[in-house]
Amino acid sequence: MKKNIILMGPPGAGKGTLAKQLKEAFHLVHISTGDMFRDAIKAQTELGKLAQGYINEGHLVPDEVTIGLVKERLSQPDCAEGFLLDGFPRTLPQAEALSKLTKEISREIDVVINLDCDNDELVRRISGRRVCKNCGAPYHIITMKPKVEGVCDLCGGPLYQRKDDNEESLKVRLGHYVSETKPLLDYYANLGLLESFNSLTGKEALFDEVSSYLKK
Ligand code: AP5
Repeated sequence: MKKNIILMGPPGAGKGTLAKQLKEAFHLVHISTGDMFRDAIKAQTELGKLAQGYINEGHLVPDEVTIGLVKERLSQPDCAEGFLLDGFPRTLPQAEALSKLTKEISREIDVVINLDCDNDELVRRISGRRVCKNCGAPYHIITMKPKVEGVCDLCGGPLYQRKDDNEESLKVRLGHYVSETKPLLDYYANLGLLESFNSLTGKEALFDEVSSYLKK
């Protein structure tokens, strides 16, 4: 079973949705840098105050901040059982820092799961996404509706639209993805770690495909 996993893909490809399914199924620690930043913004910590301007406009948070955050989290004992990195690394310096860190803590990345999705679908997903304010569960106003409108099925929390889920921020986020994150696919392919999946197959089919692959 592959247990130390990086999830990659453009904004809206379904990384967070798949990560939550895999976390439940395989008891992995889910490390989402986006969620960590959003929690810090909610709590208005120093990190949150620093990150919010970058995030709301769709820019990347500076590498040194993001790397420090992941380094601290990945060194915790619970990650020894397996971890899912969601949204990290996103730049070459982050990938290089991760490689150094995994060596230091004697953990190895088993696989990089890449989710492919075309741009029109990304726009549809991001513009219709709603997220639970309490537990972060993602929904979609057309394709993944909650049972009761505006209410999370899992915890009953209120659903909201993320500040960076607008057309302008999305353009910036896609630009960063193409120029800084997409080149990492070659980086990981050269290391023999990359496995790509088509995220257009739908939530359950994608989960089944990725789960079967991880169990091999
Ligand atoms: P982050 O939270 O990581 O955002 P992102 O990468 O833009 O990805 P999203 O959360 O938008 O999408 P997702 O792929 O998780 O899709 P989801 O499952 O929700 O980062 C936010 C910001 O934080 C960044 O812009 C940056 O500023 C900062 N940041 C984070 N990490 C950083 C780093 N390493 N370095 C620097 N800065 C960093 O799904 C989307 C929608 O599609 C939902 O409505 C869902 O219901 C639907 N859906 C999902 N899967 C499927 C499916 N298979 N079929 C049909 N619909 C689906």
